[in-house]
Amino acid sequence: MAAVAVAGGRAYGRPPLFGAFSSATLILFTLAVLHALAALAAPVVQDTRSLKCRTCQLTVAHLDEALVPLLFDMLGKPTPPAYGAIDELVEAKVEKACLTSSIHLVAARRKVCAQLLEDHFDTIAAAFRAIADAHVNGDASDEPDAVTAVCGNSTRICEGKYADMEVSDVVKLEEQLALSSVSGAGNGAGEEDDEKRQFLSESKPGKKAQRTFGSARKLVASTFLDEVVVAEQRDAVVYFATPKATPRLHAATLANVHWLAEQTSSKGCLVGVLDVELNHVPPPYGTHLAAGASVQIYAAGRKRSPVVAFHHDVAHGDVGADVAPRRSDLLSILGRRAGRVDTQARANASAIRLTDAVRDGSAREL
Ligand SMILES: *[C@@H]1O[C@H](CO)[C@@H](O)[C@H](O)[C@H]1NC(C)=O
Ligand SMILES: *[C@@H]1O[C@H](CO)[C@@H](O)[C@H](O)[C@H]1NC(C)=O
Repeated sequence: MAAVAVAGGRAYGRPPLFGAFSSATLILFTLAVLHALAALAAPVVQDTRSLKCRTCQLTVAHLDEALVPLLFDMLGKPTPPAYGAIDELVEAKVEKACLTSSIHLVAARRKVCAQLLEDHFDTIAAAFRAIADAHVNGDASDEPDAVTAVCGNSTRICEGKYADMEVSDVVKLEEQLALSSVSGAGNGAGEEDDEKRQFLSESKPGKKAQRTFGSARKLVASTFLDEVVVAEQRDAVVYFATPKATPRLHAATLANVHWLAEQTSSKGCLVGVLDVELNHVPPPYGTHLAAGASVQIYAAGRKRSPVVAFHHDVAHGDVGADVAPRRSDLLSILGRRAGRVDTQARANASAIRLTDAVRDGSAREL
């Protein structure tokens, strides 16, 4: 657990990102509760936020977690960033804000998020520039909160008591909602959650079952948090599989994920497969909605904002191998989005080998 303790906002000379609790503490708290209390009913949490408000808060809170450490890194270098570099970084991240899995995989939120970016792109970018400015001026106590700035009174996206919520409040509320949905207690919002669903998990895989997955690790709901989320310093690539709903797509995707595991798995990078037809992963970490097959990257240090590398909606039916994520695409996104430099380097080297092999005819691009 020692590795977990170094994660969170403190490493960047900032007060803990999530108010009184660091994200690591919250994850551990969640984990402890999941393990110990899964069978007991968690308290019912009142959440009367509109879909628009919740989506706004989730989007901005995820952005805060993904973007602020990068900004502080850039500002902490001995040489000041090049002119315009901060703006460029902020805008690039804001443009991709809806790709975070808790938004992207829920159709209703995806639409609202796209509209949010269209209407309020400048407000969002300005909120993060203001955080960078406050950091430069050394005024950490006066650092503006991005969620309040974007979703609060200035845009009136969230109203009443929700208008003043900060990043830390959003994280806490979402944790509570996740816990109550895991224990089946449900929540008040319910516009996209299947509240009645019980937490479902296959039994923990034995050594033998592990081996049948080659070097891609078999994950189940009850091991997901430990292996993917709590291991904060490790990159993880997770294939959320729907083998019954889309058998042909599954066969092709699984083959490529196995191949990816052979190329890139290491102590610092886990490649895993989780059958979402048999397992529910509590939000916000994965998706408990078996709405689709997906491959997601949980980068070291940014576990709350997994990046969707591939997604196929089950509603669109079983499709052929040509729709499966390509090997070169998986390597390329891992090379760019992994949290660890050694994972990136392994993916990049493998991508070069693949390109060479395809060029000289000794391999086919799959
Ligand atoms: C935002 O509006 C609410 C009422 O809707 C009010 O209680 C609160 O003080 C306002 N916050 C700010 C920062 O103006
Ligand atoms: C890997 O390649 C990506 C671009 O595809 C680049 O952004 C990243 O810095 C590279 N990482 C390493 C360690 O080579």
